[in-house]
Amino acid sequence: MGLAAKFVIPGVLFILTLVFGFWLSRSGKPYNGLIFNIHKLIALAAVIVAAIRAFNALKIVEAQPILIALLIVIGLCAVALFVTGALMSANKPAYPSLLTIHRVAPLLAVIAAIGTLYLLGGTT
Ligand code: HEM
Repeated sequence: MGLAAKFVIPGVLFILTLVFGFWLSRSGKPYNGLIFNIHKLIALAAVIVAAIRAFNALKIVEAQPILIALLIVIGLCAVALFVTGALMSANKPAYPSLLTIHRVAPLLAVIAAIGTLYLLGGTT
Protein backbone atom coordinates (compact mmCIF):
# COMPACT_ATOMS: atom_id res chain seq x y z
CA MET A 1 0.00 0.00 0.00
CA GLY A 2 1.37 3.45 -0.92
CA LEU A 3 1.90 6.06 1.76
CA ALA A 4 -1.08 8.23 0.80
CA ALA A 5 -3.39 5.19 0.72
CA LYS A 6 -2.46 4.36 4.32
CA PHE A 7 -3.87 7.67 5.48
CA VAL A 8 -7.07 7.73 3.39
CA ILE A 9 -9.20 6.11 6.11
CA PRO A 10 -8.00 8.38 8.97
CA GLY A 11 -8.33 11.33 6.57
CA VAL A 12 -11.93 10.49 5.71
CA LEU A 13 -12.73 9.89 9.40
CA PHE A 14 -11.16 13.28 10.24
CA ILE A 15 -13.29 15.05 7.59
CA LEU A 16 -16.42 13.30 8.90
CA THR A 17 -15.46 14.46 12.43
CA LEU A 18 -15.27 18.06 11.14
CA VAL A 19 -18.65 17.72 9.38
CA PHE A 20 -20.34 16.37 12.52
CA GLY A 21 -18.53 19.01 14.63
CA PHE A 22 -19.95 21.89 12.56
CA TRP A 23 -23.36 20.21 12.50
CA LEU A 24 -23.21 19.81 16.30
CA SER A 25 -22.37 23.51 16.71
CA ARG A 26 -25.20 24.57 14.37
CA SER A 27 -27.74 22.36 16.13
CA GLY A 28 -27.33 24.56 19.25
CA LYS A 29 -27.50 23.84 22.96
CA PRO A 30 -28.24 21.61 24.73
CA TYR A 31 -26.20 19.51 22.35
CA ASN A 32 -28.01 16.95 20.22
CA GLY A 33 -26.96 13.68 21.91
CA LEU A 34 -26.86 11.64 18.71
CA ILE A 35 -24.72 14.13 16.76
CA PHE A 36 -22.50 14.63 19.82
CA ASN A 37 -21.85 10.91 20.18
CA ILE A 38 -21.25 10.38 16.46
CA HIS A 39 -18.81 13.35 16.48
CA LYS A 40 -16.99 11.95 19.51
CA LEU A 41 -16.83 8.33 18.32
CA ILE A 42 -15.68 9.14 14.79
CA ALA A 43 -13.02 11.42 16.33
CA LEU A 44 -11.88 8.52 18.53
CA ALA A 45 -11.77 6.13 15.55
CA ALA A 46 -9.80 8.68 13.49
CA VAL A 47 -7.23 9.11 16.26
CA ILE A 48 -6.84 5.34 16.80
CA VAL A 49 -6.45 4.51 13.08
CA ALA A 50 -4.07 7.46 12.52
CA ALA A 51 -1.98 6.46 15.56
CA ILE A 52 -1.66 2.84 14.36
CA ARG A 53 -0.72 3.94 10.85
CA ALA A 54 1.81 6.51 12.12
CA PHE A 55 3.30 3.95 14.51
CA ASN A 56 3.73 1.44 11.66
CA ALA A 57 5.19 4.08 9.35
CA LEU A 58 7.74 4.98 12.04
CA LYS A 59 8.96 1.38 12.11
CA ILE A 60 10.10 1.59 8.49
CA VAL A 61 11.49 5.12 8.30
CA GLU A 62 14.36 6.82 10.00
CA ALA A 63 12.86 8.77 12.91
CA GLN A 64 14.08 12.31 12.21
CA PRO A 65 13.65 14.73 15.14
CA ILE A 66 11.42 17.03 13.05
CA LEU A 67 9.13 14.07 12.28
CA ILE A 68 8.88 13.17 15.97
CA ALA A 69 8.20 16.85 16.79
CA LEU A 70 5.36 17.00 14.24
CA LEU A 71 3.85 13.76 15.59
CA ILE A 72 4.01 15.19 19.12
CA VAL A 73 2.20 18.34 17.89
CA ILE A 74 -0.54 16.15 16.34
CA GLY A 75 -0.79 14.09 19.54
CA LEU A 76 -1.09 17.23 21.69
CA CYS A 77 -3.80 18.59 19.33
CA ALA A 78 -5.73 15.32 19.72
CA VAL A 79 -5.47 15.51 23.51
CA ALA A 80 -6.52 19.19 23.43
CA LEU A 81 -9.55 18.32 21.25
CA PHE A 82 -10.72 15.56 23.58
CA VAL A 83 -10.19 17.63 26.72
CA THR A 84 -11.85 20.80 25.37
CA GLY A 85 -14.67 18.73 23.80
CA ALA A 86 -15.39 17.00 27.10
CA LEU A 87 -15.25 20.30 29.04
CA MET A 88 -17.55 22.10 26.57
CA SER A 89 -20.10 19.31 26.85
CA ALA A 90 -19.84 19.56 30.65
CA ASN A 91 -20.79 23.27 30.38
CA LYS A 92 -17.63 24.64 31.96
CA PRO A 93 -17.44 28.46 32.43
CA ALA A 94 -14.39 28.95 30.18
CA TYR A 95 -16.54 27.97 27.17
CA PRO A 96 -15.34 30.69 24.71
CA SER A 97 -11.66 29.81 25.22
CA LEU A 98 -12.45 26.10 25.02
CA LEU A 99 -14.26 26.58 21.70
CA THR A 100 -11.36 28.66 20.34
CA ILE A 101 -8.89 25.89 21.22
CA HIS A 102 -11.32 23.31 19.75
CA ARG A 103 -11.34 25.30 16.50
CA VAL A 104 -7.61 26.02 16.25
CA ALA A 105 -6.36 22.51 17.18
CA PRO A 106 -7.75 20.77 14.03
CA LEU A 107 -6.10 23.42 11.85
CA LEU A 108 -2.76 23.00 13.59
CA ALA A 109 -3.10 19.20 13.35
CA VAL A 110 -3.75 19.39 9.60
CA ILE A 111 -0.67 21.59 9.06
CA ALA A 112 1.47 19.19 11.12
CA ALA A 113 -0.04 16.19 9.27
CA ILE A 114 0.82 17.70 5.89
CA GLY A 115 4.40 18.19 7.11
CA THR A 116 4.49 14.61 8.42
CA LEU A 117 3.24 13.14 5.13
CA TYR A 118 5.73 15.26 3.23
CA LEU A 119 8.61 13.96 5.36
CA LEU A 120 7.37 10.36 5.21
CA GLY A 121 6.88 10.66 1.46
CA GLY A 122 10.51 11.63 1.05
CA THR A 123 11.70 8.54 2.86
CA THR A 124 9.30 5.76 1.81
C1 HEM B 1 -10.25 14.70 16.10
C2 HEM B 1 -10.95 15.25 17.06
C3 HEM B 1 -11.95 16.39 16.90
C4 HEM B 1 -12.06 17.34 15.92
C5 HEM B 1 -11.18 17.51 14.70
C6 HEM B 1 -13.18 18.17 16.27
C7 HEM B 1 -13.63 19.26 15.52
C8 HEM B 1 -14.74 20.02 15.80
C9 HEM B 1 -15.21 21.14 15.01
C10 HEM B 1 -14.57 21.63 13.71
C11 HEM B 1 -16.30 21.65 15.62
C12 HEM B 1 -17.13 22.85 15.15
C13 HEM B 1 -16.63 24.11 15.82
C14 HEM B 1 -17.24 25.34 15.19
O1 HEM B 1 -18.46 25.46 15.07
O2 HEM B 1 -16.49 26.23 14.80
C15 HEM B 1 -16.53 20.88 16.82
C16 HEM B 1 -17.54 21.10 17.73
C17 HEM B 1 -17.69 20.40 18.91
N1 HEM B 1 -16.94 19.32 19.34
FE1 HEM B 1 -15.35 18.51 18.39
N2 HEM B 1 -13.74 17.72 17.44
C18 HEM B 1 -13.01 16.62 17.85
C19 HEM B 1 -13.23 15.87 18.97
C20 HEM B 1 -14.21 16.09 19.90
C21 HEM B 1 -14.46 15.30 21.09
C22 HEM B 1 -13.66 14.05 21.45
C23 HEM B 1 -15.50 15.87 21.74
C24 HEM B 1 -16.16 15.46 23.02
C25 HEM B 1 -15.61 14.81 24.00
C26 HEM B 1 -15.92 17.03 20.99
C27 HEM B 1 -16.92 17.89 21.36
C28 HEM B 1 -17.40 18.94 20.59
C29 HEM B 1 -18.48 19.82 20.98
C30 HEM B 1 -19.27 19.74 22.29
C31 HEM B 1 -18.67 20.74 19.92
C32 HEM B 1 -19.72 21.87 19.83
C33 HEM B 1 -19.08 23.18 20.27
C34 HEM B 1 -20.06 24.34 20.22
O3 HEM B 1 -20.21 24.96 19.16
O4 HEM B 1 -20.68 24.63 21.27
N3 HEM B 1 -15.13 17.14 19.86
N4 HEM B 1 -15.57 19.88 16.91
